[in-house]
Amino acid sequence: MQTKEWRIFVAIIMLALSLFGLFLLLDIQALQGQIEDKKTNEALAGRDYIVMIGEVDDHAYWNLVRDGAESYAKNHQMYVQYLGPENPNPEQQRELLRKAIDIKPDGIIVQSVTGSFIPLINQAMNEGIPVVTVDSDQPDSNRISYVGTDNYAMGVAMAEDVLANVDQIEAGIITGTATNHHHQLRVAGIKDTLTSDKSANIVSTAASNIKRINAREKTYQMLQRYPKINVLFGISALDVIGIVEAMEALNRDDIYVVGFDTLTENMQLLSDEKVATLVSQQPYQMGVKSMDVMRSIINGDNVEALIHTDSRLVKDVHHP
Ligand code: BGC
Repeated sequence: MQTKEWRIFVAIIMLALSLFGLFLLLDIQALQGQIEDKKTNEALAGRDYIVMIGEVDDHAYWNLVRDGAESYAKNHQMYVQYLGPENPNPEQQRELLRKAIDIKPDGIIVQSVTGSFIPLINQAMNEGIPVVTVDSDQPDSNRISYVGTDNYAMGVAMAEDVLANVDQIEAGIITGTATNHHHQLRVAGIKDTLTSDKSANIVSTAASNIKRINAREKTYQMLQRYPKINVLFGISALDVIGIVEAMEALNRDDIYVVGFDTLTENMQLLSDEKVATLVSQQPYQMGVKSMDVMRSIINGDNVEALIHTDSRLVKDVHHP
C-alpha cells in the first residue's frame, strides 16, 4: 500500500473504533438508566412517589414540614423526597422544580414564593403531574390546592394586637423577603390594618432573607437610624430572635415585639417577656395535610382549592 492509502486506511479504522466506543458507551448508559429505573421502581414497590420542594434544605421550620410529610408517607404507603436549596434562593428552587417535572413523579408539593413559579407549575399540570402549593401559594397558577396559613389574616391579627396594646405606634418591620408572596401578604395585612389608626406610622421595613443574623443586623441599623421605633414586627420564623439580639445590643427593652412562629427559641423569648406575641403556624401539619391532599388527588377525589392550617396569636407560653 502507498503511504497515502495507508493513512486513509488507518483513519477509517480509527473512526470505526471511535464509533464503536461511542455506541458501547451509549449502550452502557442506557443499561445503567434501565437498572436505575428498575432500582427506583423496586425501591418504590408500587408506592406513589411525591417530590416536595421547600425554601431551604435544612431549617428549623422546613424540617418540621418535611417530617410531617415523611411521617404521613410512612403511614400511607407513599414515598416523599424533600428537596430545597442550601440557602433561600428562588432560582434554585425553580431549578429543583424543573428537575422534578423531568423525573415525572406522581405529584409535586412546592412552596411557591413568586409569580415566576407559575409557568413551571402549569407545565407540570399540563404534563399530568398534580401540583399542591404549601406555605406560600400561587393562586393565579393551575395548582390544585394550597395548604398553609392564611397569611393576610395573620398580618391583620398581628396589627390588631399592636393597636390594642400600644399608643402612638412607630413601627419597624423585619420581613423575610420583599418578594415572597406569603411575606407580602403578611405585611399587607399589617399595613392595611394599621392605617385605621391615623397616628400609627410604619417608619421602616427591611428584609432578613429568613436569616437570624440578617434580622439582627437590619434591626440594629433600623434602631440606630430611627430610635423612635416602639414596635417591631418579625415576619418570618427567625426574625424575632435577631430582633431581640439587636435590642439587647442597644439596651432597648421598651419595644413591643410581635412576630411569626412558635419555634422553641421563639417560645423561650415569649416566656422571658422579650417578645409580646407570636403567631403560631403548623409547619408539621402543613407537611401532613399537603400529603393527604395529594393522596386524595391521586385517588381521584375532589379537594378544596384553599386549605388553611391553624394559625393564631399566642401570648401565653402555656397555651401555644
Ligand atoms: C415562613 C416560611 C419561612 C420561614 C423561615 C416562616 O414564617 O412561613 O416560609 O421559610 O418562616 O424562617
